Amino acid sequence: MEIFQDPLPFQAWCAAVDRESALGFVPTMGALHQGHLSLVQASLRRDAATAVSIFVNPAQFGPNEDFDRYPRTLAQDCAKLEEAGVAVVFAPAAEAMYAPGDATRIEVLGLESRLDGGSRPGHFRGVATVVLKLLQLAAPTRAYFGQKDAAQVAVIQRLVRDLFLPVEVVVCPIVRERDGVAMSSRNAMLSPAERAAARALPLALRRMGDGYEAGERSAAALVALGTATIAAEPGLRLDFLQAVDAETLLPVEHAVPGALFALAAFAGATRLIDNARVDADAAWRL
Ligand code: PAJ
Repeated sequence: MEIFQDPLPFQAWCAAVDRESALGFVPTMGALHQGHLSLVQASLRRDAATAVSIFVNPAQFGPNEDFDRYPRTLAQDCAKLEEAGVAVVFAPAAEAMYAPGDATRIEVLGLESRLDGGSRPGHFRGVATVVLKLLQLAAPTRAYFGQKDAAQVAVIQRLVRDLFLPVEVVVCPIVRERDGVAMSSRNAMLSPAERAAARALPLALRRMGDGYEAGERSAAALVALGTATIAAEPGLRLDFLQAVDAETLLPVEHAVPGALFALAAFAGATRLIDNARVDADAAWRL
């Protein structure tokens, strides 16, 4: 497995991949878990070669967020990727991605201020900017993202469409722990009590799903069910629970196919996210 720290040699390596055979690309911030590895495996199944980036992107963290605390486990990450059969890893330093004088930022107007963008100003600007930089370097046939970050998926799909980027965006399902909590690098930052409280996130989404399956279609009524579940867990502080259209991230009134129920809550200082949606077949998908 090749490991690059410098952007241009990584770009040259990717450009040398035979274009008849697909290159898959999985951007990550590392501290890899089975959620990330499910994206890697999806690429390994489909693409001739798989590239993974590991970069804790400073531009997507606010001044009072957890950039410094964010787990960094590069050696273990590389061992997992090598074992999985990944061809190349790109793990740049911040100065390599944001060289002195770097001045270009990508804004996805409207979308960037919805859901997580509402409580994390500038977050999606940082995400869109780094993802475009990474896609320019890897120039992959396909890029893989997790449904866990549903608002991020909406932002990236808009970016790819608006800029005519020649890449297929593949969205992979949320991988969960046995107790239902969505896998996240941030779970490693939770105390045992906070980790126990985190179970209320998928529980809230499941209760909403029960309501949906019992016939409730009012988004407000379903959101109220979920909000009550979070409120009953003293170890959590709700950031938001919203029903939106999965593409535009604008509020919806009814739980119809394409509706996304997205939730963010703090367990102590750690912000956790999760979501469920009504899929094209009108089934509740956690
Ligand atoms: P990170 O949080 O490391 O996640 C990398 C990718 O793994 C994202 O597409 C995310 O949605 C996916 N992922 C994380 N947990 C998952 C889970 N439990 N199930 C399925 N997929 C999961 O998202 C980012 O990094 C960054 O914003 C990035 C896109 C790399 C830009 O910096």
